[in-house]
Amino acid sequence: MRSLSFAPAAALLFILAGCSNEPEPKDNQPIFTMDPHSHAHPQEARITHLSLDLEVDMEAKQVSGTARYDIALAKDAERIIFDTEGLAIERVILDDGEETAYSLGDTSFLGRALMVTLAPGTRSVTIAYRTGPGARALQWLNPQQTSGKRHPFLFTQGQAILTRTWIPIQDSPGIRFTYEARVQVPKGLMAVMSAENPTTVNTDGAYTFRMDQPIPAYLIALAVGDLAFVPIGERTGVYAEPDMVQKAAWEFADMERMLTTAEALYGDYRWGRYDVIVLPPSFPFGGMENPRLTFATPTILAGDRSLTALVAHELAHSWSGNLVTNATWNDFWLNEGFTVYFENRICEAVYGDEYARMLQLLGRQDLHATIAKLQGKGQHADTHLRLHLEGRDPDEGMNDVAYEKGFALLKLLEEKVGRTKFDAFLRGYFDAHAFRSMTTDDFVAYLDDHLLKPEGIELNVAEWIDGAGLPDNAIEPQSDSFTKVEAEIARWASGTAARQIDAQGWTTFHWMHFLRHLPEGLDGQKMKELDEAFAFTANGNAEVLSAWLELCIRNDYDPAFDRLDQFLTTVGRRKFLMPLYAELNKSEKGRLMAQTIYSGARGNYHSVSVRSLDELLAWKENRPAAKF
Ligand code: BES
Ligand code: ZN
Repeated sequence: MRSLSFAPAAALLFILAGCSNEPEPKDNQPIFTMDPHSHAHPQEARITHLSLDLEVDMEAKQVSGTARYDIALAKDAERIIFDTEGLAIERVILDDGEETAYSLGDTSFLGRALMVTLAPGTRSVTIAYRTGPGARALQWLNPQQTSGKRHPFLFTQGQAILTRTWIPIQDSPGIRFTYEARVQVPKGLMAVMSAENPTTVNTDGAYTFRMDQPIPAYLIALAVGDLAFVPIGERTGVYAEPDMVQKAAWEFADMERMLTTAEALYGDYRWGRYDVIVLPPSFPFGGMENPRLTFATPTILAGDRSLTALVAHELAHSWSGNLVTNATWNDFWLNEGFTVYFENRICEAVYGDEYARMLQLLGRQDLHATIAKLQGKGQHADTHLRLHLEGRDPDEGMNDVAYEKGFALLKLLEEKVGRTKFDAFLRGYFDAHAFRSMTTDDFVAYLDDHLLKPEGIELNVAEWIDGAGLPDNAIEPQSDSFTKVEAEIARWASGTAARQIDAQGWTTFHWMHFLRHLPEGLDGQKMKELDEAFAFTANGNAEVLSAWLELCIRNDYDPAFDRLDQFLTTVGRRKFLMPLYAELNKSEKGRLMAQTIYSGARGNYHSVSVRSLDELLAWKENRPAAKF
């Protein structure tokens, strides 16, 4: 990866315009890395503050208005470049009034560069624009797709490179800026952002927001709908549609404790409040760490608080990801690997050692499966921690490897130096690089200087970072609970009735492990026996249900197919959709089913899920119900 060193002398050439909380660059620290997924040239001209004035038209499904930027320029800079995709640019104004020339570059998978001509001494740029019909960050839901069924809903998803589809912006994780926004929505609806938020509905539908800490573009987020807020602790609370908000508040009762636990581990929480918004089921991810306001899927409302590790994960991103940010998507593991480690530490402190071990094992199983799949397709480079996503949509290369191989490396380091030293190292890392971005090379150098050399440790770091698969010195997680689950499976496989299985005290994680380790080739009779004993088809826990449905497809257990159809039609979380459709796609009968269900469900999914599924199912645009 090319890294543009930005020496202090060059930093002096910058005229800092507008307000920015960004610390000054430190000696010898490169501050802008070439990002292969952005057209911006931040070393020439960059944004430091964004002020949005937008109107959200829920009927026309369009966002329009102005984005005004304070900018910092290198001496003699004559232009500033933004990323856009599918935006209609109406005009561009410099400072307080002068219209200026601009041009749009060629269209590619990165969208189009917007080049704006600057005048000497320009301090701000205002772009008037509206979004296009296919803006991929936005999902517009009609009332039927919400829980209340009475009001439309909108949410955005920025990561990885989708913010450019609803705001003209320098869409690189290495470029940070503060923002404020004025957002007009239909009366009666509430708007919330990754910023300081309202807790009640405004009668006029006009909302204002501020984010005073500098963040990268992928963390700008907006949701609009019939929302209510319920506080959980002093600094934590939950937003959701009114008919779900109490259930959500009950499910996330541990949030405040997670926050104080996280602070005790790695230092102060620097974002003020930490709230979660539970979105309609079409949200394509489990969670998204939008600062101050995590966006979450309703599929974690299991009714027994068993899936709240996801909240710990998104909260942990407030340090790993939002505070210290991967410089480019090739360094994605620095966001996710660190976050999985941190998530595990929060869960261990809040729910105990065994819970954390089970979580580690489930993650390791996912990792082995992902590595095997990628290696089977010859995609060895996608099993490296450092990715090479130049020329590709970053979304294609971001997989479990960043999460779980990243976690495994940190776990190994923890074991080598002991927890006390490793915790001090991590805390120092977050403090030293707060509100900055980090390349893999920067991290490796920091690790060397601050941990490996001082401790006299030799480690195959290069193999971990740039080698394929999981290195041999990875530590195997162990869980007594899972050993017991395996023993029960063995008893059942050798003739004990399913009802005799000793599942006393089993949690969601036990059941996930159980379903993942049943013998191959179960006939209808065996599947029925399991279903009668444990009512899997009727299970309301999305993790357990999706694991069961995968098994039902594999073993052609058709009594569960109506439930499968219903699940695939209502839930849009890609992590659940992909394995189920992939499993269907393996047989002739299943392929037909997949095509039929998908043609009805595709319109309910977010563009992120649609993209992956169109490819998996070789979907052709001209079929019925194609809305994207
Ligand atoms: N930042 C990710 C979600 C993401 C990754 C969005 C890549 C776009 C591109 C988020 O923090 C995440 O990892 N979510 C997981 C949950 C987690 C518990 C592993 C998910 O959505 O399943
Ligand atoms: Zn994450």
